[in-house]
Amino acid sequence: MEKGIFITIEGLDGAGKSTQIKFIKEFMENRGFQVLISREPGGTYIGEKIRDILLDREHHEMKDMTEALLYAASRAQHVEELIKPALEKGYVVLCDRFVDSSIAYQGGARKLGIEKVREINKFATGGLEPDLTIFFDIPPEISLERIPLEKVDRLEQEKIEFHRDVYNTYIALSKENPDRIKLVRADREISEISRDIKNVLVKLMKDMEK
Ligand code: TYD
Repeated sequence: MEKGIFITIEGLDGAGKSTQIKFIKEFMENRGFQVLISREPGGTYIGEKIRDILLDREHHEMKDMTEALLYAASRAQHVEELIKPALEKGYVVLCDRFVDSSIAYQGGARKLGIEKVREINKFATGGLEPDLTIFFDIPPEISLERIPLEKVDRLEQEKIEFHRDVYNTYIALSKENPDRIKLVRADREISEISRDIKNVLVKLMKDMEK
């Protein structure tokens, strides 16, 4: 059985997740937890190779279904090789993106369908779900401006409408799962965002004591 805590971080590209992931790690470590940070796509040797295929700007011919299955493949490897074993050892696993990303990007924005993408990911993860998901709420018009042009990857170069669809799907998902997905307004000062995240984490730990 799982003993650890599985926390995922979601949001649009350029939402400022990385800075806050460091904050969460430190916060949880100060409370005596061992914390493992990982990311998707990637997180494992094989997963990082899949990531390179997915984000390569030259891969214009990639089909939407191929994309969805590659994200799920990277995830399957990640869950079995890294996430589950760490949770069994009692770690807090902090993951930059998970299934919700696929639902928002491939299901919503690529229009493959929420249910279909949910289904392939259920197969990929064996049904593993986060205990908590923090969604960095920032509209695409603001978040995309933060990404330096030379760093833009294959998905980030999509049009603004694509990112609007991603955003709207995330919002719909958070309404559907209010207990798991907590929104944090990310168009503010770093310290203000950290304060909100801290409150979410304190509540999570309180709920777990029950
Ligand atoms: P990410 O690592 O967050 O990008 P960066 O390091 O540049 O901030 O994510 C890479 C891209 O992959 C991002 O545009 C979102 C996309 N993505 C999906 O479309 N589906 C998924 O399931 C995942 C995990 C990511």
